[in-house]
Amino acid sequence: MTLRKILEFPDHFLRQQAQAVTVFDEHLVKLVSDMTETMYDAPGIGLAAPQVGESIQLLIIDVAKLEKEQRALVMINPRLIGHEGSQVDEEGCLSVVDLTANVKRYKKVTVSYQDMAGEPHEITAEDRFAVVIQHEIDHLHGILFLDHLSMLKRTLYKKKVQKMLAEKNEEKSTEAEKK
Ligand code: NI
Repeated sequence: MTLRKILEFPDHFLRQQAQAVTVFDEHLVKLVSDMTETMYDAPGIGLAAPQVGESIQLLIIDVAKLEKEQRALVMINPRLIGHEGSQVDEEGCLSVVDLTANVKRYKKVTVSYQDMAGEPHEITAEDRFAVVIQHEIDHLHGILFLDHLSMLKRTLYKKKVQKMLAEKNEEKSTEAEKK
């Protein structure tokens, strides 16, 4: 297993529409194992392939934290096929550093997906589990939880990130001058 680098906003790669998985081979198994290690190391409760630079429709969720089951749920080519109600819950994202915010999502979702062998499945999830599924599926379509926030909150966060990046660059150039 290899730890993968997690891409962060405003990386443009996170904005791509991910491609459907059509080949279920050992490369896929290796990627899932790398992503699982990366998610637990971060630590996070979900991770989508585009976050580690793979533009394919694959996501993993740490069900252990949500359902007291000791496993990572792997969803390939997931599709939202049903939803009910709504809820507001606090979200964060490994690709959106230093930000948590309340997001409105469906309360209950039904999703079809394939496993690592390409076998079709369907799952219905509620509450926090449903939130994580919706958040991760968004990643496969280039959407970040940030996009669900108000224009004001998004603008403030973008400014904060620009400032952080500018400070980082300044540090780098100061270090370079010392050499
Ligand atoms: Ni995320």
